[in-house]
Amino acid sequence: MRLLVASNNQGKIREIKSILEGEIEVLSPLDISLDLSILESGKTLQENAIKKGLAYFRHSRICSLGEDTGLEVEALDGKPGVNSARYSGSGDEENRKKLLKELWGRDDRRACFRTVMALVIQEGWIECFEGVMRGKISRSERGRAGFGYDPIFIPDGFNKTFGEMDCGEKNKISHRRMALEKVLSFIQREWDEVEKFCK
Ligand code: IMP
Repeated sequence: MRLLVASNNQGKIREIKSILEGEIEVLSPLDISLDLSILESGKTLQENAIKKGLAYFRHSRICSLGEDTGLEVEALDGKPGVNSARYSGSGDEENRKKLLKELWGRDDRRACFRTVMALVIQEGWIECFEGVMRGKISRSERGRAGFGYDPIFIPDGFNKTFGEMDCGEKNKISHRRMALEKVLSFIQREWDEVEKFCK
């Protein structure tokens, strides 16, 4: 089966390829020379995931996986959430700085990463899956691995940030891993129908 990752985020593509290695042939937009830019205008992660998945499916006719992730911080009533990418109005580094500043002096640092994936099998057949990783926001940036908010997120059960883990370690436990396991078990369960569209 071939699956197109509906994203230009190289960090996500790297993780998805590594997690699904040996299970499914994962393609990135670059692999098929597809250059799309999708406005994340949805009010929910699911809306954005579907929007991305459908757009890539319509341009490629290949089974596509739309994905949207948000970091939800308890002390900020779930923000930045669906607006995580646009939190500071600038890039990842500014987003992390802004979040650390907002939480400065606060003891409640609980947060979670939530990923929603939309598997677009054909026009009119879309399945959604969610993965959640709970943890807390560190008091300063630690580590340079990963991408996005990784250097300031400490997953539950660990004393280090995702930024201090090598990618294999993050990929074993992450929100993305959990969502992808659900995608895989759905495909395996429904393979007789799915293979008609996704081979
Ligand atoms: P989006 O899903 O591409 O819209 O990403 C939302 C924001 O969360 C962006 O700033 C990403 O860099 C960040 N992000 C998404 N997934 C992860 C992750 O696994 N770790 C850290 N940051 C992430």
